[in-house]
Amino acid sequence: MMTTRPLFIPIILGTPRQGRMSEDVATFMQDEVTKREGIETTLIDIRTLSFPLTDAGEAIKDSEFSATMMRADALILVVPEYNHGYPGLLKHVLDTNLKEYIHKAVGLCGVSAGGFGGTRVIQNLLPVMRELGLVTIFWDGNFSNARNLFDTAGQLLDPAYLKRTDKFLKELVWMAKVLRYGRENIPR
Ligand SMILES: Cc1cc2nc3c(=O)[nH]c(=O)nc-3n(C[C@H](O)[C@H](O)[C@H](O)COP(=O)(O)O)c2cc1C
Repeated sequence: MMTTRPLFIPIILGTPRQGRMSEDVATFMQDEVTKREGIETTLIDIRTLSFPLTDAGEAIKDSEFSATMMRADALILVVPEYNHGYPGLLKHVLDTNLKEYIHKAVGLCGVSAGGFGGTRVIQNLLPVMRELGLVTIFWDGNFSNARNLFDTAGQLLDPAYLKRTDKFLKELVWMAKVLRYGRENIPR
């Protein structure tokens, strides 16, 4: 049976950097998700999490973060491109869970100072997502020239991102529904 309860799609802001432009992108995505019916969301800022740095993986699980990942039907990761890769702290945070992610959808938003919209960080995240059991969608958020995307009040300057984000979210929601149906109805 197809369930009608809202989807839960948290957004993870994937850098703790002071002055990060990814924060505007994450807030924009949160606003766009919130506008849509049938989806609940929350913004998880990795700066506010406090995982130990002296160990890694499930040994340092945080019960609240794990419960949020377990409840999630899908994730949106907002990730800046740092030397073509992802921030190490994001990987440290994601590595603390595994079963919580399995057969759940993930949409990736790359953020870069350059003109390629974080495509290289997205490419580098794909094998990590797969190993975590997450299912990537084939539409990404590509936020180029991050310093000029938003005004000082955090308002988006280029309306073209609204249409692209709509396509991204439609695909993510479809995949989240399909996977939730599968998790709840199809024996493994
Ligand atoms: C350590 C580091 C490495 C970076 N490497 C790249 C890069 O490879 N390509 C790029 O387009 N921008 C690069 N940038 C710029 C970021 O993509 C830029 O700051 C953008 O605003 C997103 O990151 P932010 O959320 O930290 O601001 C780098 C920034 C830092 C701090």
